[in-house]
Amino acid sequence: MGAPSVESKLAQFGETQRRDAWWVELLPVVILLGGFGLYATLRAFEGRFYEWGPYLSPFYSPLIDQGHRWWKFSPALLILAGPLGFRTTCYYYRKAYYRAFFLDPAACAVGESRPHRYKGETAFPLILQNLHRYFLYVALIFLVILWYDAICGFWFDGHFGVGLGSLVLLVNIVLLSFYTLSCHSLRHLVGGKVDCFSCVAFGGPRHTAWRGLSLLNERHMLFAWLSLFSVGLSDLYIRMVAAGAISDLRFL
Ligand code: FES
Repeated sequence: MGAPSVESKLAQFGETQRRDAWWVELLPVVILLGGFGLYATLRAFEGRFYEWGPYLSPFYSPLIDQGHRWWKFSPALLILAGPLGFRTTCYYYRKAYYRAFFLDPAACAVGESRPHRYKGETAFPLILQNLHRYFLYVALIFLVILWYDAICGFWFDGHFGVGLGSLVLLVNIVLLSFYTLSCHSLRHLVGGKVDCFSCVAFGGPRHTAWRGLSLLNERHMLFAWLSLFSVGLSDLYIRMVAAGAISDLRFL
């Protein structure tokens, strides 16, 4: 009798010898990522209640053509591709949504839905995920803009002040910074491809930076989630204040 063919050894979809409840970890991703996607889409199309006093929602920053001179739709739609592209192509989110939404694969050591046709990210459209490093450059620009917004959030009518919104925007940009700086592509750019730091220009500073980024990189998943919550909650807070549903709490 001959050896079993490679194909006969491939598991059927969902087939596994795992005894743990491997599917449980998919649920929070579906609920939280799906919920955020829905909320962000609704807010991006809403086109109002995105600023109040010195606060500007991160969904609408940088604010382009607010007066609708040449763009008649929501200004958020003009900038959406940057942050959306960065998150969508993120190495961590890719793993999370491939599993949770496409079940492809559903989990480690669990049978896939199309094992015979699997091409990974080598063919269209998933080959576009390789654009992540370019979205990183865009994200770094957004980071600078959002830091500017967060600092402006402490400036009320020409005077320094602190409101709850100021703190919300500050926490948000700190978490977004951790998320962006912990990016795998950035770590690779700074030192991941270097075999010998003492042999390259600026090897010392690069090694120091690479070690710092590596520390952040170990917590990339945590920062991915925390920054997702902080962006959504920052927008929600500003929306509620701008719509008059609540008043901004002023500390100073
Ligand atoms: Fe997640 Fe770059 S890998 S942001």
